[in-house]
Amino acid sequence: MRFHVLTLFPEMVLGGLNSSITGRAISRGTISVEAVNIRDYSNDLRHHHVDDYPYGGGAGMVMEAGPVVRCVRDVSSRVAALSGKCPRVIYTTPQGRVFSQKIAEELAKEEDLVFLCGHYEGIDERALEMTVTDSLSIGDYVLTGGEMPAMVMIDCIARLVPGVLNNDVSAEFETFHDSLLEYPQYTRPEVFEGHRVPEVLLSGDHKKVDEWRRDRSIERTLEHRPDLLEHAVLDRREKQYLEQLLREKNAEGHPD
Ligand code: ADE
Repeated sequence: MRFHVLTLFPEMVLGGLNSSITGRAISRGTISVEAVNIRDYSNDLRHHHVDDYPYGGGAGMVMEAGPVVRCVRDVSSRVAALSGKCPRVIYTTPQGRVFSQKIAEELAKEEDLVFLCGHYEGIDERALEMTVTDSLSIGDYVLTGGEMPAMVMIDCIARLVPGVLNNDVSAEFETFHDSLLEYPQYTRPEVFEGHRVPEVLLSGDHKKVDEWRRDRSIERTLEHRPDLLEHAVLDRREKQYLEQLLREKNAEGHPD
């Protein structure tokens, strides 16, 4: 899968994604990330400026339509020439749809994705109307630019690409895949500063271990993200366990 990030700060994007698991996937050729400098598409040959004052007044600067549109068109036409398909162009903005695991799964089906990162007070609206197919936010807070959101989304999408994670099954069994938070994990030593690893994990009884993990997932989800439980797929035993937890919670709230 190929990611194309259009940005004023290519070194920031490449520095982040060339590390750790995405870095290894890039070295192996499982994914590729190119960072394209929007400044290279400025018509101002001397200073390469790409921003100007907003019409109507107000604080800050706005990224001009010209360099952004030329940059997106150049990258998109290069992608189309190679793949025969115009790529989706994702604009990272707090005004977009909130990114989720479900959106990541959908985007992971694409061969190429273009990310357009804004800076300053944003990008001239006409450039967005002319080029953007998807506007995505990473949450209800405002960052100084779209690079980190693009990196967050690329990391999340890349780990769904076969071969990026060493263990192909792990993406299937983790938090959010089945609307439950992940169970707690332990490794050696068996006792750390007096705290023991739960006995069942040392028992070698795989059925018991699986049930224990599912129960911890249900507990955690009820405690931290009860909204997720509505979509969780639980078997009969798990439903009974959840009902028991809910009864206990209710009893705590209404002591006789
Ligand atoms: N740019 C600035 N803040 C952002 C956010 N929360 N999500 C996506 N892009 C952004």
